[in-house]
Amino acid sequence: MTQKKNEEKDILILAIESSCDETAAAVVKNGREVLSNIISSQIALHTLYGGVVPELASRKHIEKINQVIQEALDQAGVTLDDIDAIGVTYGPGLVGALLVGVAEAKAISYARNIPLVGVHHIEGHISANYIENKELKPPFACLVVSGGHTHLVVVKDYGEYEIVGRTRDDAAGEAFDKVARAIGLGYPGGPKIDKISKEGNPEAIAFPRAKIADSQYDFSFSGLKSAVLNYLNGCRMKGEEIVAADVAASFQKAVTDVLVEHAMHAVREFGFTKLAIAGGVASNSALRESMRAACQANGVEFYYPSPILCTDNAAMIGAAAYYEYQKGVRSDLSLNAVPNLKLGER
Ligand code: KG4
Ligand code: ZN
Repeated sequence: MTQKKNEEKDILILAIESSCDETAAAVVKNGREVLSNIISSQIALHTLYGGVVPELASRKHIEKINQVIQEALDQAGVTLDDIDAIGVTYGPGLVGALLVGVAEAKAISYARNIPLVGVHHIEGHISANYIENKELKPPFACLVVSGGHTHLVVVKDYGEYEIVGRTRDDAAGEAFDKVARAIGLGYPGGPKIDKISKEGNPEAIAFPRAKIADSQYDFSFSGLKSAVLNYLNGCRMKGEEIVAADVAASFQKAVTDVLVEHAMHAVREFGFTKLAIAGGVASNSALRESMRAACQANGVEFYYPSPILCTDNAAMIGAAAYYEYQKGVRSDLSLNAVPNLKLGER
């Protein structure tokens, strides 16, 4: 095939994501057009236990994955014969959960002789920004805020990343989930804090904004979480009323203030004109609002995915897999789940 023909051909990726508690499959055309995006959420199952139970997650993935993939193909109006490559999350995440997606992807790849591309979950989150922002191209800065990660990333090129800031303890989403549990909102905490905060006063309680002495881009949320727990205990001991909406709004403001401040600092220092946000916490309405205002004030273009593309999904894996595929990246059948996979490593 000539080079020209290669460039003209549409590339269809079947993407699979099973790193945590969503079984997801998608068909993505040329990295940016989502033909289908099927997500089978396990929230109802894990709610019973107040958080994700890894063993149950793996079992549920096994039950659902074939059906979810078939639905993704059907909704896209394609069959495996039309698929150019399979993209699959192989880390980081829960090992048993990842293994289900990886084994499935390898089986289809082997049986149908379709190229396989292993994808880093965080690369997927970042790539979610390409789907609705057709003009977005590297380089840009990206704040990744999920249940497991809080990273300030310089996206140098497709698939080329430099982490310039990271959390020293809890991830932002983890802090949302723990505080939500403490004020009795249940799992998953982030969306519930987002919602109840709309009725609360973000200035009601002065929670700390942690600074890391030797790194202006690193984050720390465990002190803030402890401050919230101490505040709640103090109220209970003194018999004072706890206004959950005020606690939630004040906590949320403390998190978003730090995220916005560090992201804007990085953008200024590195001279970026584009900032993207990614990961489950990027769907937080207060974060989106204050980041938008800060970007506007600093003349920075602000990019963010729709909420459904912020939380775990397979379309983002399809977008990331496309750029890896175009660079010639191929995984073989030795691909394994890597629970602590580092961004930018293979
Ligand atoms: O990216 P994600 O779906 O999974 C991981 O890769 O971890 O992120 C899940 C995290 C959870 O901690 C959840 O509470 C948080 O994202 N989250 C939110 C919101 N929606 C989800 N946090 C704050 N506000 C939200 N609206
Ligand atoms: Zn995620």
